Amino acid sequence: MIPWTSHVLVLSAALFLVLSVPGSSKEKFGIEKRPFGKTSGGEAVDLYVLTNRTGMQVSITNYGATIVSVRVPDRTGKVEDVVLGFDTVGEYETGKAYFGATIGRYANRIAGGRFQLVGKTYDLPKNDGPNTLHGGINGFNKRVWAAMQSSGDDHLTVELSYVSRDGEEGFPGNLSAQVIFEMPSDRNELLIRYRAETDKATVVNLTNHSYFNLAGEGNGSILSHKLTIYGGKYTPVDKFLIPTGELRDAHNTPFDFEHEIEIGARINDSDEQLKFGLGYDHNWVLEKKPRADSAELAARLTEPTSGRTLDVLTTEPGLQFYSGNFLDGKMRGKGNKPYEHRSALCLETQHFPDSPNHSTFPSTILQPGKPYRSTTIFRFFAK
Ligand code: GLA
Repeated sequence: MIPWTSHVLVLSAALFLVLSVPGSSKEKFGIEKRPFGKTSGGEAVDLYVLTNRTGMQVSITNYGATIVSVRVPDRTGKVEDVVLGFDTVGEYETGKAYFGATIGRYANRIAGGRFQLVGKTYDLPKNDGPNTLHGGINGFNKRVWAAMQSSGDDHLTVELSYVSRDGEEGFPGNLSAQVIFEMPSDRNELLIRYRAETDKATVVNLTNHSYFNLAGEGNGSILSHKLTIYGGKYTPVDKFLIPTGELRDAHNTPFDFEHEIEIGARINDSDEQLKFGLGYDHNWVLEKKPRADSAELAARLTEPTSGRTLDVLTTEPGLQFYSGNFLDGKMRGKGNKPYEHRSALCLETQHFPDSPNHSTFPSTILQPGKPYRSTTIFRFFAK
């Protein structure tokens, strides 16, 4: 007969294993491809579920090259999904909030839906008052991308490709775009690599539009999240959220995030820029070391109760911090949860809004024979 002390030992060892390796009881390292339904046009799309060895799981659909979920542990090992999204492809098709999507051909706004390039004027569909937002009516977020998956012992990768035709949504040039999502097997990170090539001069600005709530999606407001942005200037806007062209010093204003501060601390201050954005909806100018060609820290976001922290690193010169001002609780997301006002925020790495109409901003022009390259990393840990 086995003494009762051995039972206790075996039981506690089993309990320790279950508690100490988050998600380990069910989740297996690797990529699982599942059907994600059909678009209204009858195209089948898939969901790629990437599970690493350190408790992180990300799912991505080739509809809109969209991040559907990001599950990461808190400081006790409890895993939650920290991005907003939907359960079905139909909701992504009709949705207007760009949850988790890849944004292109031009992320953010182009004033008057118009720009000039090599002496020609291009007119784009206007989908944001007088302006074009996030690539137009049928941007990259509304397209079905071709997908390829690969994995090795140290990484899991999903590569999505899309060819945007010359004239699509008004933009010149056939643009062949790739978004490569990669998760290391033993670090809680998602790397996003963007690549594009054109056959005619065009403008390109690609980003990912994930909405984060580090307490878990649908789990209250983000106003008590703490944010640091590694840049002391931002691009102030007019009432249509078009940059005036100025790079404004953020110090001693509600836009100063150089030292960690609660998002809600100044969001309701009386400030013209906050009024125009209905909160934060602005582009920060990131600090760059000269000739930096690797991704550098752009922002740090922490949720104090869970300890979950997100570092955003990028090669891009700008970061749009959007505090979820248009969420109003009417839209329901995963599990039919209502997504309330400011219950998530976006940290969109990018070139500055309306760059095609501002010659003093870093250029977004892409020429044939010169590939576009951009990298952003979402790195998670718990404090
Ligand atoms: C961006 C814009 C916001 C808003 C969201 C989507 O972040 O800057 O104004 O349009 O996308 O709702």
